[in-house]
Amino acid sequence: MSNYKGKTAVISGGAEGIGLAIGRALGQQGMNVVLADIDTAQLAVAQEQLSAEQIPVLTLPLDVAVESQWQEVARQTLAHFGKVHMLVNNAGVGGIPGNAEHTDEAGWRWTIDVNLMGVVYGAQTFIPLLKQQGEGGWVINVASMAGMAGTPFAGPYTATKHAVVALSEAWREELKSREIKVAVLCPAFVKTRIHQSHRNRQARYAPDQPPSEKQMKMASGAAVAVENGIDVNIIGKRVVEALDQGEFYIFSHPNYRPITQQRAAAIDAAFERAAKSPLLQHIVDQEIVTF
Ligand SMILES: NC(=O)c1ccc[n+]([C@@H]2O[C@H](COP(=O)([O-])OP(=O)(O)OC[C@H]3O[C@@H](n4cnc5c(N)ncnc54)[C@H](O)[C@@H]3O)[C@@H](O)[C@H]2O)c1
Repeated sequence: MSNYKGKTAVISGGAEGIGLAIGRALGQQGMNVVLADIDTAQLAVAQEQLSAEQIPVLTLPLDVAVESQWQEVARQTLAHFGKVHMLVNNAGVGGIPGNAEHTDEAGWRWTIDVNLMGVVYGAQTFIPLLKQQGEGGWVINVASMAGMAGTPFAGPYTATKHAVVALSEAWREELKSREIKVAVLCPAFVKTRIHQSHRNRQARYAPDQPPSEKQMKMASGAAVAVENGIDVNIIGKRVVEALDQGEFYIFSHPNYRPITQQRAAAIDAAFERAAKSPLLQHIVDQEIVTF
């Protein structure tokens, strides 16, 4: 399954930013686009924009952290377009910057529920439908470069993005036999409103305490980086380019390559030391266990 024409993509967090850019790029390839988002006002703007570009679009309200709302998105997608072929788990929040001991629990819960459980619920809703259809398909998860190496002062964000990369690796293997292709997008800074994620923070995750001066300073550093980030529509086009080439890890910032190179080299060097430990010689040549 390599062509997109007439097929349907569901994109969480699709009202603006990277999700909308991916929707636009897929729409330009002839796909029907379902944009699902917690921000209904922004969804109306997105609907108008894509419709003006002759892209068939359906917008639906969705809080990705609430599984029952995913079921409704699936129901309405099938009612409108008949089938579904691609899930783009894009919705995400930046979380609150802070060091290990100062990040508040409500902030942790919010970031985990949106960035991680949102991806899990999306998969649990749509993968059974893709399997049932039996035509293959795609699951694209939006992680981050923060999912490739631990990012200081961004504990909840970097933890959830690592989890999304790991889930993508697991699902790629699980879904291979069903012709469902999995990919994980790992951008560095892109000019969106991710640094203003709190605008859509649900009331149930109200912060335990106001951010400290230090947190505010870290947040403004991140905001500058995002505002100087690359144009969002490049990301949408890059995703299509990478899917055409069957890429699994999708990068948008080749200049960040040293980050993963240094991490891989450090891990390899650590294995080298373990391989020399007298304590471990009896297992050096043992086969690794998989199941
Ligand atoms: N912008 C960057 O620099 C950057 C870098 C790496 C990864 N990312 C990732 O890209 C994805 C998209 O972020 P963006 O940069 O476009 O940010 P954005 O804030 O511009 O867009 C995020 C979208 O997600 C929606 N959203 C937030 N909470 C939601 C919820 N509970 N349910 C449904 N929708 C929700 C928002 O309303 C918004 O439309 C995120 O997963 C983010 O972590 C962004």
